[in-house]
Formats: sequence, structure tokens, C-alpha cells
Amino acid sequence: MRVLVTGGAGYIGSHTVKELLKKGEEVIVFDNFSSGRKELICGGEVIRGDLQSKEEIKQVLKEYRPEAVLHFASLIQVAESYTDPARYYYHNLLTSLNLLNSMVELGIKFFIFSSSAAVYGLPHETPITEDHPLQPINPYGATKFMVERMLQDYDRAYGLRYISLRYFNAAGADPDGQLGECHQPETHLIPSLLLHLLGKKEDFMICGRDFPTPDGTAIRDYVHVTDLADAHVLALDRLLTGTGSQILNLGSSRGYSVLEVIKETERVTGRARPFKFGPKREGDVPVLLASSEKAENYLGWKRKYSDLTTIINTAWEWHLTH
Ligand code: UFG
Repeated sequence: MRVLVTGGAGYIGSHTVKELLKKGEEVIVFDNFSSGRKELICGGEVIRGDLQSKEEIKQVLKEYRPEAVLHFASLIQVAESYTDPARYYYHNLLTSLNLLNSMVELGIKFFIFSSSAAVYGLPHETPITEDHPLQPINPYGATKFMVERMLQDYDRAYGLRYISLRYFNAAGADPDGQLGECHQPETHLIPSLLLHLLGKKEDFMICGRDFPTPDGTAIRDYVHVTDLADAHVLALDRLLTGTGSQILNLGSSRGYSVLEVIKETERVTGRARPFKFGPKREGDVPVLLASSEKAENYLGWKRKYSDLTTIINTAWEWHLTH
């Protein structure tokens, strides 16, 4: 099957491209390389292009006629979306609109969307199931919510079938050591911590110590990026069998506080450096914890790498060699 992957040179995109290629799919990566990296592409056809131009993406879709599109390309920093919402609404919405409208015009019917736990906002209860109310509390989450809403309407009106995958905290690196996480700047917990332990990041700050959690630091559900990639491959299969659109949480169903992650990282790496406590980041919620039961049942998804030790180990191996 031929598929087009936007943001295929990014963190989750590149890991998914690898799994798609392993399965023998024909992959076209479409990326503007604003944050994606050439080194993270392990095969397929690569097109440098920008979703801000509808002409560009439509031309590529017309030429290659993929059966399905996987849409990873997105701005992803919650805190930045707070200070610069215009950039988030512009990029995340316009790019999705250009892509979806081109697909509709060309009759391409299958779409996998990188959504986020950020669509839920402050959870009323955990673990969070897909029918939990959607009340995003930051612009990043709002953009994901709005694209999901567009998808519902496009499904009804144009027969566009989609699976929206709501990631919780993607973490870890390719167990083969080929791919890993390298955002610029790096703001995510585990890579920031590892860079700090390697002496490549001067300070490490725990953002908030007065959350209503047992140790006062925020709890997140960390899920291994290769398990996420695998879920995309399964979702694609399922979508093409014609069973209709779906929304699925992808998490590990186990939560760890920032302090617990630090402790495990120190144990796995055998290193420790002092850290500081700072204020909580705007838009951060105390607890995010998924119920992934629906994805497990619907896709037959089985996580292989999402225990915290493997997540940290694979990320550490990658940071040591790159
Ligand atoms: N944190 C620190 N210090 C740091 C970095 C992070 O204390 O240097 C804390 C954060 O405040 C948060 C936790 O570690 O409580 C995890 O932070 P990340 O930045 O790794 O991840 P987020 O939970 O903020 O965001 C991630 C994705 C978003 C997504 C969100 C919800 O990056 O795209 O999960 O799914 F929206």
C-alpha cells in the first residue's frame, strides 16, 4: 500500500515510517524540515514541502495518489502555544485544512491523525477514556480538538474515514538505536533530564511542586514511541478494512510523577546531578493517565516497550550515541 506521511522526519513520524517500511508499505515522507531531521528518515521517498501551501500538497497527492495519509506534522509545545497562540492556530489548523481539502478534492479517503491527550484538559476522572469531555486548557490542545471536529464533519459530509490517535506522553527511542528524540529546543521531561545528566544542559528544573499529587509533582502516562508507531500500522490496517472512523487513546495506563521519573533515570543511567524546583508551566495539568483499553481491543494493540525502565534505557542509549 502507498501512504503519505506528513512530518515523517519528526520524532513519532520517523519511528512510524520505520515500522511501515518493515511491513513492506510504500512510504512518501512529506516534511518541511522546520523541526524534522534528515538523519531520522530510514527509507521511502522524501519530499521537502510545506503544508502551508495547498498547491504543494495537492500536487504531491495528485502525483503519488496514496491510499491513505498519516498526519504527524504539527507544532507541539504546550507552553509555547500559550505565549504564541496565533502561531499554533495558524500552523496546526491551516496545514490540516489544506491537507484535508486536497484529499477530499482528489477522493483520497483514509486519514490517520496525531491527536493528543491535551484535548481533554483537566481530567474529571482518571484513567481517561475517549468519552471523557473535551475541554482543552491550552491552545495546542484546542488545535487538536478543532481538527478532530473537522474530521467528524468531513466524515459525515465527504465520507473521509479517519482514526484519531490521542497520544499521551510519547517517550523513549527506537530499540535498534537508529532513531530517537531530538527537539530544538528540547522541552520534554525525559530527554531534558538525559541531556542534563550528560552535561549538555546546564540546569534541570522541575516545573511545579505543589500539584495535588502524592509527591507534589505532575503525573504523566509515558508510552514508548515504537509502541505508538506500531499502533499506527495497526490503525491503518483497520481503517482500510472499512470499519469506519474511530478515536483511540494511546497510553501505557500507568502514571509516574516527575520525581519518580528522575529517580528511575538516575538508577538506569547510574548518574545524578542536582536539579532545581521552579514554577509550574502554564497549561500543565496535575495528572494525565489514559485508559487504552479501546485501542487494545479495537486494534489488538499490545505494548512491548512502554515500561518506564525500557523507555529510559532506549532513550539513554540513543543519547549516548548521537
Ligand atoms: N517537566 C519538568 N521539567 C522539564 C520538562 C518537563 O518538570 O524540564 C514536567 C512537565 O511540567 C510535565 C512533565 O514533566 O509535568 C512532562 O512534561 P513533557 O514536556 O515531557 O510533556 P507534557 O506532558 O507537557 O506534554 C506532552 C506532549 C504534548 C501533549 C501532552 C499531553 O509534549 O504534546 O504531553 O499528552 F499535549
